[in-house]
Amino acid sequence: MALKNNFLDVFLSFNLWKYISNKRKRQLGFLSILIIISGISEIFTLTSIAPFLEILANPQSKIENNILRNIYDLQFSFLSLDKLTFMLIVFLLFLTLSALIRLLILYLNDFISALIGNELGVKTFSSFLYRPYEFHLENNTSKMISLIVTKIDSAIDSIRSIINIICSAIILISIFTTLIGINIFITTATLASILLFYLLLALILRKRLGVISKKRSFLIRSQTQSIQEGLGFIRDIIIDNCQNYFLKIFTFNDRSLRIIDARSYFIAGSPKYILEVLGIIFLLVTSILYKENIGNELSIIPLLGSIAFGMQRILPVIQQIYSSFVILSTNKDSILDLVEILKHTGKSQEFINASSRKILKFEEEISLEKISFKYSNNPKYIIENLNLNIKKGSVLGIIGKSGSGKSTLIDIIMGLIKPQKGSVKVDGVELLFGENGNTKQWFPRISHVPQEIFISDNSIQENIAFGINKDSIDNAQLLKAIKNSQLDSLIRNTKYGLNMYVGERGALLSGGQKQRIGFARALYKGGDLLILDEFTSALDVKTEESLIETIKNLKRQVTIIIVSHKKSLLGFCDEIIELESNC
Ligand SMILES: Nc1ncnc2c1ncn2[C@@H]1O[C@H](COP(=O)(O)OP(=O)(O)O)[C@@H](O)[C@H]1O
Ligand SMILES: [Mg+2]
Repeated sequence: MALKNNFLDVFLSFNLWKYISNKRKRQLGFLSILIIISGISEIFTLTSIAPFLEILANPQSKIENNILRNIYDLQFSFLSLDKLTFMLIVFLLFLTLSALIRLLILYLNDFISALIGNELGVKTFSSFLYRPYEFHLENNTSKMISLIVTKIDSAIDSIRSIINIICSAIILISIFTTLIGINIFITTATLASILLFYLLLALILRKRLGVISKKRSFLIRSQTQSIQEGLGFIRDIIIDNCQNYFLKIFTFNDRSLRIIDARSYFIAGSPKYILEVLGIIFLLVTSILYKENIGNELSIIPLLGSIAFGMQRILPVIQQIYSSFVILSTNKDSILDLVEILKHTGKSQEFINASSRKILKFEEEISLEKISFKYSNNPKYIIENLNLNIKKGSVLGIIGKSGSGKSTLIDIIMGLIKPQKGSVKVDGVELLFGENGNTKQWFPRISHVPQEIFISDNSIQENIAFGINKDSIDNAQLLKAIKNSQLDSLIRNTKYGLNMYVGERGALLSGGQKQRIGFARALYKGGDLLILDEFTSALDVKTEESLIETIKNLKRQVTIIIVSHKKSLLGFCDEIIELESNC
């Protein structure tokens, strides 16, 4: 019973089936036909070795198979091959054909699995990209990276293993039925003992494989996390001289993962060697028993030869089934994680593509009505019962101590996070969250300069015209944004100009330059609602004044929300609200 459950668990991988495209399913269908042909060709190969050995042992004997005898008679009239050569050629032809078909199956299996892996990878990544912001607040990036990068590989391995199991099972059945035709006693006895050996092994290892699978899934994630954190904080790590701390965590995770993998490779590969010996011993013993009881001496050699040949072909096939079973068992938990994520793909993406073409009307005002918000990990409300009206074209200032919820309030206004109570309305239309909501129709109106600017390792122009293909960048708008954000001198001073690279996460830029890129990005997007979240904190007085000039020029053309403590910025706000700290 326990073993049955484990087998069922393993076939959970079939859950992935739903997320595979029809094209790949058709390719898999073609592969199954090939697998059946391969089974048939195995039967032919095996059937043709017996007459060959028979004639080799006793040149006087006849070809017993009717079809083969007819072909032999037919060829004799013009090729005049003798019986032995004829049977040798027939056997070699079938043997080569079988090998070629198996080669083709091997190639297609790897190829189709790789393409399926790519499909699943794209689906997983897009499922993360299209998830609401709140999902990302609660989920660890290492978990997501490990799913996309490593756990997809586990899925490919599993798909390949399932195909292997099916293919091997069909070949096993084909060879088995043929061998039974040759000698039922030796075949059944030998095969039953081999199968019993593997079954016992699977039963003994069942628990251990389950533990390996769980550990593996966990370690893949921790390993990604240790790399990500180690390299992500490299500046602080160098200054604080704590490389060793991160190295230790990595060493532990990496070592454990590799040892676990080595262990499962060993578990998967080792029985073969024991069985090769056991198989031959068993074959010899049963043959001797058989000969003593029934057989005559002349017929035993071709019989033994045929069965030994059949077993030699059956052993790797059973071994293949077993090792695929081990691979499936050790990847089970990684696949369950993947299926969990894939459940959320599809609908949201199609929906977003269709609905993001519409844009919410914003002609009059944004109103916040009795908003209360708390993060899921903290029972305290950060914002409580807040009412706020922002008229189109006005400038709103938000002040308050650090941690008082200024950025949180902005996220609520932007429709990134959903308040537990109250509603946000744009021109009277309530912002609705979730897959069928309208927040995506609100985002295009917003130009947001966050507290921390994300810089991608690309050219400066791609960082300003963010997420837009280089060829589709509007040059006039780009130059205007650069000028108004005081970036022109930076660009003039490098020989690469607009193509200047900014380094990973803007490592080649100063804090102030990053903030100006963030500002230029917002200007390039040209939304109706410009939100500046403490964006002048790293600017020198002169640059700040110039940017304030730009903002002043935008007054009335766009609606502006400024989070800042600087009098110079707050001076031209129409209204200022102060958030109280609840902590
Ligand atoms: N993703 C989050 N999950 C849980 N708590 C958060 C999260 N982001 C911010 N907070 C908490 O919410 C409070 C307000 O944060 P924030 O809006 O960033 O403040 P401010 O921008 O005014 O400095 C802080 O106490 C902070 O610890
Ligand atoms: Mg903030």
